Amino acid sequence: MRAKLIVGNWKMNGSRATNVTLLKDIVAGLDGARAGCAVCVPAPFLQQCEEVLAGTPVAWGAQDVSIHAFGAYTGEVCAQMLAEFGCRYVIVGHSERRAYHREDSALVAQKALAVLAAGMTPIVCVGETLEEREAGATAQAVGAQLDAVLEALDTAAVARIVVAYEPVWAIGTGMNATPAMAQDVHAQLRAQLKARNADAAEVVPILYGGSMKPENAKDLLAQPDIDGGLIGGAALKAEDFLAIIRAA
Ligand code: 13P
Repeated sequence: MRAKLIVGNWKMNGSRATNVTLLKDIVAGLDGARAGCAVCVPAPFLQQCEEVLAGTPVAWGAQDVSIHAFGAYTGEVCAQMLAEFGCRYVIVGHSERRAYHREDSALVAQKALAVLAAGMTPIVCVGETLEEREAGATAQAVGAQLDAVLEALDTAAVARIVVAYEPVWAIGTGMNATPAMAQDVHAQLRAQLKARNADAAEVVPILYGGSMKPENAKDLLAQPDIDGGLIGGAALKAEDFLAIIRAA
């Protein structure tokens, strides 16, 4: 059985003052929860995460990474730097980066490789837009996004990634995919992993993201191929994030 994994994506939120309370409340509220959990925070807060979370069951990570290793790339942060701050996870290919920063799947694949090379776990995001879903092109869209990454990895490395299915139309809209809709896509993603590395397909967590909240988490997480969640808005409130962790 794959252990469940709940990851908070704080996006561009937080402050030094409010983070301490949120992080400490999460740690204090875990109370023997079975699911693994992590928070992916803006890069300036990684040191604070290391200070507050080291030695606790809560892991931390970043939301993006450069494909380059050091050098003249103003504004970028490389994987080695993230590893220095104890990051376990790095989100790559979030739809907000694909949409607002024109990241394509080839670039996302390079980012995943950079994260793996620095000894961390990439959380590879895939998801269809509303237009793609309405055109019946969901399978094709998410399939191409995942394949671009899988083709860049050597077979063994497939076992070292996390996949997150985040339908773009469900992100921040309060409109989640139904458990059945999500399960359909997760099963497809699992089959794609299997085609590349059958053993890896059994262990790679496939998270669902998109308006996951305490009220819908249990039903989504009960699906056979939904191994956890990538949580946006609800990860900013300790009570809601903990309720999702407990539902897992
Ligand atoms: P919401 O949970 O706010 O819909 O965001 C999901 C997401 O984008 C997580 O990466």
